[in-house]
Amino acid sequence: ALAGCSGGSDAAYPDDTIEIVVPFAAGGPTDTVTRIVADPMGEELGAQVVVQNVEGAGGTVAAGEVAAADPDGYTVLMHHIGMSTAPALYDDLNFDPVEDFAPVGLVTEVPMTIVSRSGLGPSNLEDLVAYLEDERESVTIAHAGVGSASNLCARLLQDAVGVELTEVPYDGTGPAMADLLGGQVDLLCDQTTNTAGQILGGEVDAYAVTTPERVEVLPDVPTTAEAGLPDLEIGVWHALYVPAGTPDEVIAALETALQTALADPAVVDQMAELGIAPVSAADATPEALAERLSEQIALWDDVLSEPGR
Ligand code: MLT
Repeated sequence: ALAGCSGGSDAAYPDDTIEIVVPFAAGGPTDTVTRIVADPMGEELGAQVVVQNVEGAGGTVAAGEVAAADPDGYTVLMHHIGMSTAPALYDDLNFDPVEDFAPVGLVTEVPMTIVSRSGLGPSNLEDLVAYLEDERESVTIAHAGVGSASNLCARLLQDAVGVELTEVPYDGTGPAMADLLGGQVDLLCDQTTNTAGQILGGEVDAYAVTTPERVEVLPDVPTTAEAGLPDLEIGVWHALYVPAGTPDEVIAALETALQTALADPAVVDQMAELGIAPVSAADATPEALAERLSEQIALWDDVLSEPGR
């Protein structure tokens, strides 16, 4: 074919701006992870990569929107563990996490932390549990809606302690953290992306991290297992998806860009400061994400459908 006279199949991807849809408010953990990788991905792709926040219904509004978008590689979804919990939590989802998306790759592994507004009172997790048992009616816990990681953690915390607290939903934990700092809510279980700086700055009180290992930037914060709530274990994971039907070569270009971004020392450093880790190149692949997603859908379907929930 003559140069410049190519048909659709010869058109090089990308030749337009790529939008990564973030299902939660700006300034929160998902937004932060996305903004860290967007520029280096754009450099590798030779295109502008912009971030669009589409809040609502614990991340399910954004996922529904991307599921229905053109499968051309210009609309990409960054989502987290919520992609795997949504089917167990919603009867009326307008998307299927497996059927309606093509996986691009895993992005990060993210611990969560149980934090309170400064000066709530308890000085460790054991004290916090006793406090929640005594004061349950008056204690508020913020989260980012049914389907969010913070909501999942809030559920598991209340189950582990055997209390029902007053839940306060937000469009993301960015705004939830703002209210925690302002003292309008008492508790939040959120990703270290959003809490490490506030914990280290002494602006919130930390009780535990939800992963089996302590977090390097938070060496003084015990794990939930160490501090007495071994059943409360959650590891958040972020991943990139495109609508099902996206051409293989487009997915491959996004996969390469993701792997390049995650290997960038500046990206690794920024993530480490936030207590999060980029996944290995082997995990930043469609195969690894497909496996993680199906395994997590099965896990959370079991956990969330236990009697009493
Ligand atoms: C956010 O970006 O606001 C969070 O990922 C919300 C959450 O899932 O808790």
